[in-house]
Amino acid sequence: MTLLCTGAAGYIGSHTAMAFLDQTDSRLIIIDDLRTGFRQNIAILQARYPDRVEFVEMDFGNRTLLEALFKRSEITGVLHFGASLIVGESVQKPLAYYHNNVANAIALFEICVRFGVEYFIFSSTAAVYGEPDSRLIPVCESAPLAPINPYGSSKMMVELILQDLAKISSMRYVALRYFNVAGASMGNTTSLLAQDQALGQRSKNATHLIKVALECATGKRAGMSIFGDDYPTPDGTCIRDYIHIDDLAAAHLSALRFLQAGGDSAVFNVGYNRGYSVKEVIECVKRVSGVDFATQIAPRRAGDPAELIASNALLKQQTHWQPRYDDLAVIVRSAYEFEKALKA
Ligand code: UFG
Repeated sequence: MTLLCTGAAGYIGSHTAMAFLDQTDSRLIIIDDLRTGFRQNIAILQARYPDRVEFVEMDFGNRTLLEALFKRSEITGVLHFGASLIVGESVQKPLAYYHNNVANAIALFEICVRFGVEYFIFSSTAAVYGEPDSRLIPVCESAPLAPINPYGSSKMMVELILQDLAKISSMRYVALRYFNVAGASMGNTTSLLAQDQALGQRSKNATHLIKVALECATGKRAGMSIFGDDYPTPDGTCIRDYIHIDDLAAAHLSALRFLQAGGDSAVFNVGYNRGYSVKEVIECVKRVSGVDFATQIAPRRAGDPAELIASNALLKQQTHWQPRYDDLAVIVRSAYEFEKALKA
């Protein structure tokens, strides 16, 4: 089976691509414009699976190039990771987010439907829920969709488009609503780390909490801000549901198998059913690394909801997915080992 993976030079895409390569015999065609992705991630996938990974450097919204790809390869399924995904940036640049996440996705859908793609796995997000009513936490898939930033709105729009498309085409889809993804591949060994052949989170300008805290712990940053300590949570800082990247990658495999077994199009949360505050995460990073670093309380960041925790009951019930690394210290340790090995 040939799968098209958009955006697999990025963090989530590269780990998921590796999971598919390790656990299936599918062939992957990866497309990525490398605006935020890393050629090194592609090189790592190709080094391990030279005959099963093809890479084409292109924008996933380029109809002409997509058409040429679909004409020459029998693509049965698509894993669509390609997107702009920074909440704060989306507030500053809404049009860029709607253009890349929605308009370009429409171009991709046109080609998928025309060429009879059967399975589509979409990277959605917890941001579609916006600021869920605290009585609805852990949040279920049936909770109202009320995004509070353009990033979340753009992902919700794509979910709605998929819903409509599935009614008029043979394409079935799973939208996975990711919560806060972190950590590095559990397959990383000391020698892979030393040779820059390990998978983990590479970022040109990191903004995600665990990544930023680890850059402090490894001396790449002098200190960091805690964005707001006046939220209605026990310690005043935002609560998120942090999920290990390998468990998230495994959810994509489970989703595809669910569709292949005849499952109807569906939407699943991917998280662990429990949350940690920003302060708890920073404490964990300090504990795991044994390094203390400076933090300061800064104003709230635009577009941040106070609390987001996933109910993962539906995913567990409908597919064979079971979390393996549901432990904040394990998540942080895997990311720390990767960060230490990563040159500045
Ligand atoms: N934070 C800080 N200081 C930092 C970085 C982050 O205090 O230097 C705080 C944020 O304000 C927020 C929390 O840490 O309260 C988590 O922020 P991240 O930037 O790590 O992640 P987000 O929750 O903003 O967003 C992530 C993904 C989204 C996804 C969302 C779902 O980037 O794609 O999780 O919960 F939608």
